[in-house]
Amino acid sequence: MIKMIDRAAVSLICVLASTGLAVEKPTSPQQTCLTAECHTEYSKKAEVHGPVALGDCKSCHKPLNEQEHTYQMARKGPELCQYCHLDQTSKRYLHNPLANKEGGCTECHDPHSSDNKFLLSSKTVADSCNECHETTKDMKFLHGPVAAGECTVCHDPHGSDYRNLLDVDPNDLCFSCHEVTQNELKRFEFVHEPAKGECTGCHDVHGANNPQMLVDDAPKLCYSCHEDIQKMAEHSKHKHSVVTETGGCLNCHTPHASTVKRGLKAAPMELCMTCHDKSIVVDKDRTVGSFADQIKDKQFLHGPVAEKDCEGCHTTHGSEHFSLLAKEYPSQFYAPFSKEKYDLCFSCHSESIVLTGETTDLTDFRNGNTNLHFMHVNKELRGRTCRSCHATHASNKPRHIRESVPYGNWDLPIGFEKSETGGSCAPGCHVPNAYDRQTPVDYKKSQSSSVSANSKFGQ
Ligand code: HEC
Ligand code: HEC
Ligand code: HEC
Ligand code: HEC
Ligand code: HEC
Ligand code: HEC
Ligand code: HEC
Ligand code: HEC
Ligand code: HEC
Ligand code: HEC
Ligand code: HEC
Ligand code: HEC
Ligand code: HEC
Repeated sequence: MIKMIDRAAVSLICVLASTGLAVEKPTSPQQTCLTAECHTEYSKKAEVHGPVALGDCKSCHKPLNEQEHTYQMARKGPELCQYCHLDQTSKRYLHNPLANKEGGCTECHDPHSSDNKFLLSSKTVADSCNECHETTKDMKFLHGPVAAGECTVCHDPHGSDYRNLLDVDPNDLCFSCHEVTQNELKRFEFVHEPAKGECTGCHDVHGANNPQMLVDDAPKLCYSCHEDIQKMAEHSKHKHSVVTETGGCLNCHTPHASTVKRGLKAAPMELCMTCHDKSIVVDKDRTVGSFADQIKDKQFLHGPVAEKDCEGCHTTHGSEHFSLLAKEYPSQFYAPFSKEKYDLCFSCHSESIVLTGETTDLTDFRNGNTNLHFMHVNKELRGRTCRSCHATHASNKPRHIRESVPYGNWDLPIGFEKSETGGSCAPGCHVPNAYDRQTPVDYKKSQSSSVSANSKFGQ
């Protein structure tokens, strides 16, 4: 409507002389406000208020004494404006300045005219809010609409039926703009519990000092609800630095939803391979070997590795055992035997293979009935650990027998061959070098013909 009014008409507006104005008072009551000399400043602004443009000053200024040219406000506070604008004060929760009998609408609006849209006294919407609020002061990362100064895409500056003057149902607020996130939550099978409800549990809606408006950086953000993981990640003897570093958890987890269980970014093994497809130099004394190399071109993958189940043996977040192992396992070639030291292997394999000296069926690693597992492993002093014969992740030999053992700086080949009833090693690697379950090898006889090996693996 305001557009339809010839702005030039405003120069004909009635003259209202109020005390304190350096304008000459009109001399006779007959004189109207419609002169070009007075109050013309209102019409020079880009936006002129409807009644002002019409020269209707009286709807707000009630003449007190026209002779004296004195006036009083027609109504007080917000009521002055409500007379024509009912919508702004019709909502359940009113913004404090509108509920305030004294201040009212003119806290933000100029009643006559303004160079700013919506007759705002301040240049932008945000400027006008910032007159009273410090909501976004000193924030390093501002939310898109906040950075654009658009407080009113979310808030109704006047009042709302929702709390916090929100313009939209708070449950739909974020999704009204973030369709991608909404689609992920709808389509992906595994949705993170808090993402179903409160987005503001993790994001500060206006901005924050952390990227992505996060209330805190991961992992601290995540620890606030996952204390058990914090305990494991921060207080275990062996840590996985990619868990505890800044941003940590997000190396492997998505914060909202995923197609993989546990909110993982990829299937478990694939996930590990994003880093363990190469060797990782931790410091000058420590390199974590490439896992990819260990399984590359291998004919036999150890059961859980073939199942891509690293969790069967490793606890990713942290561990009391070396190499982030889930359970106890000796870290050396030799270790005095105790059953508990092999908890890891015996969580899936029967411990009975190393508990008795003689057996006809507990293990195939027998010479006759002599249990060679028992003989090698179950020793008070230099018991051989499983790794001296078995490769943990993968091997090209049956029964996951290693292809070689470290011998100083050299890898000494074992050359294990399995036979129908036993097996043998290449001469030179081992004393003695064969076993047979049906026709036991007589070690007393064969001993003299073997080369004495003093590798870590040998006697
Ligand atoms: C929509 C209500 C409204 C209308 C219409 C209106 N005024 Fe005002 N006017 C006010 C209010 C409210 C104030 C008090 C100013 C303040 O508190 O900022 C005011 C104050 C004034 C003042 C005092 C100086 C100032 O600018 O603060 C003058 C002069 C004035 N108005 C002139 C006029 C004239 C002339 C018209 C008609 C062309 C007019 N007003 C129409 C609401 C109105
Ligand atoms: C006498 C009736 C009347 C009174 C009283 C009145 N207004 Fe208005 N107001 C109008 C009209 C007419 C329009 C133009 C409507 C339109 O453009 O849709 C308008 C428009 C506005 C707009 C919109 C400007 C825009 O750019 O869209 C604002 C803001 C506004 N008024 C604020 C106020 C405030 C603040 C008061 C009290 C100080 C007030 N009005 C009192 C009649 C009034
Ligand atoms: C806290 C500041 C503030 C106060 C107080 C305020 N307004 Fe507004 N008003 C705004 C802002 C900001 C806009 C622009 C809304 C937008 O960006 O969509 C606006 C817009 C308007 C409009 C344009 C149409 C609309 O509703 O968006 C009218 C009319 C209006 N206000 C009237 C009033 C009246 C009447 C009062 C007092 C009852 C009042 N305002 C009090 C900030 C305020
Ligand atoms: C004239 C001062 C003033 C201006 C300007 C102002 N506010 Fe307020 N606002 C207040 C006061 C006072 C309160 C109530 C006290 C508080 O919660 O801090 C309040 C409360 C709020 C609330 C909380 C309401 C609730 O339900 O708890 C929101 C949201 C808000 N203002 C948004 C805005 C926005 C958006 C703007 C700009 C369009 C704005 N304010 C401009 C004074 C102002
Ligand atoms: C993307 C939507 C959005 C935008 C844009 C937005 N807010 Fe808010 N605001 C909210 C929500 C949601 C709340 C409810 C509080 C919460 O859950 O953290 C809120 C609460 C508030 C509050 C009351 C609580 C508090 O934090 O003090 C004020 C004041 C406020 N906003 C001011 C502003 C101002 C000023 C701007 C513009 C600079 C703005 N808001 C922009 C969504 C928004
Ligand atoms: C009015 C539209 C709108 C609403 C409502 C809205 N956002 Fe945004 N949001 C944006 C825009 C625009 C960006 C900036 C996009 C960009 O930078 O790519 C953004 C960016 C973000 C970002 C990423 C910030 C970054 O640094 O990249 C997060 C997180 C976010 N919003 C969360 C929320 C949450 C939580 C809510 C609900 C409380 C919400 N948004 C509501 C429009 C909105
Ligand atoms: C458990 C904490 C948490 C909750 C709850 C949460 N977010 Fe996030 N959000 C994050 C983190 C962490 C990031 C940063 C992701 C990154 O850097 O990879 C993020 C990023 C975003 C982004 C930026 C784009 C993207 O997807 O990376 C948007 C937009 C976003 N969140 C919106 C939302 C919305 C909407 C909700 C509510 C449905 C929500 N978030 C709930 C933690 C959360
Ligand atoms: C506001 C609390 C809260 C925050 C913050 C939070 N979570 Fe959660 N999270 C939960 C709840 C509740 C569950 C579901 C119950 C459970 O499994 O403990 C859950 C479950 C999970 C799950 C298991 C999902 C499944 O399918 O079993 C993962 C993984 C997870 N959160 C990772 C994270 C990460 C990463 C962060 C930080 C970016 C984080 N959480 C931040 C509350 C939170
Ligand atoms: C290197 C990858 C990786 C990182 C980094 C990581 N996680 Fe996990 N997380 C996993 C894997 C793999 C699982 C699945 C374990 C399972 O199925 O037993 C998991 C499972 C979880 C679970 C659900 C099962 C449980 O153990 O309670 C939660 C909760 C969880 N992670 C939270 C976190 C938090 C919090 C962080 C950051 C402190 C984090 N994760 C960092 C890989 C990771
Ligand atoms: C984002 C990269 C990254 C991902 C993903 C990752 N790791 Fe690691 N991992 C490392 C780094 C770097 C090290 C070197 C030691 C350290 O910094 O903690 C390491 C070390 C290890 C170690 C050796 C620890 C030691 O003390 O010798 C094991 C075992 C391990 N990771 C297993 C896994 C498993 C299992 C997964 C998949 C669930 C996985 N990692 C995913 C980066 C990663
Ligand atoms: C059957 C148990 C088991 C399974 C399953 C398993 N690991 Fe291991 N892993 C170990 C053991 C034991 C070690 C320690 C190496 C040794 O024996 O000295 C280890 C060591 C590692 C190391 C450290 C290598 C180094 O040079 O320090 C990485 C990396 C690793 N594993 C990754 C994985 C990944 C990825 C998976 C899943 C695909 C996986 N592991 C599955 C038992 C297992
Ligand atoms: C999470 C369960 C699991 C753990 C822990 C585990 N294994 Fe296995 N292992 C299997 C499965 C399943 C097979 C059978 C599939 C195959 O041949 O790889 C297997 C097979 C074997 C075989 C070959 C048996 C055959 O019949 O060919 C050897 C040797 C072996 N494991 C040694 C070990 C050692 C040594 C450890 C401890 C470092 C260990 N395993 C820990 C699950 C496990
Ligand atoms: C001195 C070498 C050596 C050591 C040490 C050793 N193994 Fe074996 N293991 C073998 C040989 C050789 C076979 C193959 C037997 C056959 O099939 O002929 C075997 C077979 C197995 C099998 C397949 C089932 C069976 O018993 O025949 C499992 C499981 C196994 N070993 C687990 C272990 C575990 C667990 C440890 C550590 C506690 C371990 N081994 C230590 C040499 C060894």
